[in-house]
Amino acid sequence: RKCIFIKTSNRMFIFSYLHLNIYGNPAAATKEHQMTFPSSTTEIPHTLMPRVTEVFFVESKIPTIPKGAFVANPQLEKVEFLNTPTVSVEAGAFEGLDSLKDLEIVGTLLTSIAAGVFAEVPHLESLVLKSNQLGGLQRGLFDGLIKLTQLQLHMNSIQSIEDGTFDELKSLKSLHLAKNNLTSISPSLFSQLDALQTLRLYENQLTSVPEEVFLPLPNLLEIGLQRNQITQLAPRLFPHKDKLRKLYLDNNLLTDLPPEYFTGFSLLKTLTLHANQLTGLPALLFGGTPKLTEVRLHQNNLSSLPSGVFSPLTNLKELDLSKNHFETLSSEYFDGIAKLKKLYLSNNKLRTLNANVFEKVTSVTILKLSGNMLENLPEDIFEPLKALIRVDLNDNPWRCDCNFIYLYQWMKDNSKVLTHTPPVVCTFPNDLSGREVISLTEDQLVCPTLAPTTTPLHTTTMTVRQTVCGTCT
Ligand SMILES: *[C@@H]1O[C@H](CO)[C@@H](O)[C@H](O)[C@H]1NC(C)=O
Ligand SMILES: *[C@@H]1O[C@H](CO)[C@@H](O)[C@H](O)[C@H]1NC(C)=O
Repeated sequence: RKCIFIKTSNRMFIFSYLHLNIYGNPAAATKEHQMTFPSSTTEIPHTLMPRVTEVFFVESKIPTIPKGAFVANPQLEKVEFLNTPTVSVEAGAFEGLDSLKDLEIVGTLLTSIAAGVFAEVPHLESLVLKSNQLGGLQRGLFDGLIKLTQLQLHMNSIQSIEDGTFDELKSLKSLHLAKNNLTSISPSLFSQLDALQTLRLYENQLTSVPEEVFLPLPNLLEIGLQRNQITQLAPRLFPHKDKLRKLYLDNNLLTDLPPEYFTGFSLLKTLTLHANQLTGLPALLFGGTPKLTEVRLHQNNLSSLPSGVFSPLTNLKELDLSKNHFETLSSEYFDGIAKLKKLYLSNNKLRTLNANVFEKVTSVTILKLSGNMLENLPEDIFEPLKALIRVDLNDNPWRCDCNFIYLYQWMKDNSKVLTHTPPVVCTFPNDLSGREVISLTEDQLVCPTLAPTTTPLHTTTMTVRQTVCGTCT
């Protein structure tokens, strides 16, 4: 049991393996049918016991996987090399492995694999080549792998992939090319992968994606394009709208989006657009996306929005507009999203908000307004928010003067809802700077005396405050 957590975490695997090695087993059998060869192993054993169907080479000193390495062991169903210092795989290395379903070569020093190496394992279903140092993929490398459903190539240094490389992978459902060095992809690269459901291209250096590239892929459920340098999305990039469930576009350089871009994706549940440079959104962007319950637009350059832009998202529960450039907000931004529960507006440049700004989002339970430039808020601004559970108001330059009494009182009355770590403190006036708002007493909230008044200064504090307020509003 201990040695088969490879997929979840290499580190966990190695830890378990070390544990076994404490007992000095050169080759530890974890289960009857499994065998692990540790770092003391210097070559692939010629014959294994017939019951062994899975072998693991973990940090074994195997620089080359030679031709015919497994010919005497045709029973093998799974072969894995993990963190071995392997630099080459010879042609014919896997010949005779007629039952092999699962091959993993992970964390080695391989910079290339010649076409033909996998031609002898036609029953392969899963091929994991992640965390190597592959620089490119040649046409023919995966030819003959008609049963392959999973191909993992992430965390290499792949800069180029020859056209046709994936053309024989008719059964492929998952292709993982993330964390490589791709700067572009050819329009026909995936043209034969009709069965493909998951395509991960994130963390490459793509600046654009050809418009036709997803056209031959009607079964895609997930497309990961995040963490590239994409500046523009082609208008018809995602032609198959009926199956897609997850679309990741965050951490690119998008400045705008084509109109009606996210309409008709009937099953789309996850859409990420954060950490781009969007300066605005088209008036009509969403529609016919009933499963979309979260919209993540944080860390963009938005300073205003079209009225009702989210209104087709009738099931929207979470809207993240934090880390944008908003100086104020209109209640019309929130038209039609009455089921919204979480509204994140922190780290903008908000200076003023209208009293009615939240009147349409009466179901909001979590509201974040921290990290803005707010000095005060109008009376009754929180009145429509009857379901509030948590409000963040910290990191604003609150002006705790005579005009602050409404907000002060609200904070006192709603202390359970207000986040206190970090505390909400005053910035102005100077003598209250740094003081926690709820620690003050109401009579400390005074306005400076600007002009001589008719009221003598020696009357009660209460009178002074009221009188002075009359002059400074
Ligand atoms: C590949 O990408 C990684 C991460 O972005 C970068 O550190 C590395 O220098 C790149 N290598 C080449 C050959 O461009
Ligand atoms: C977005 O804002 C950042 C600063 O927050 C700025 O460096 C960048 O140029 C802006 N991009 C656009 C397209 O306005």
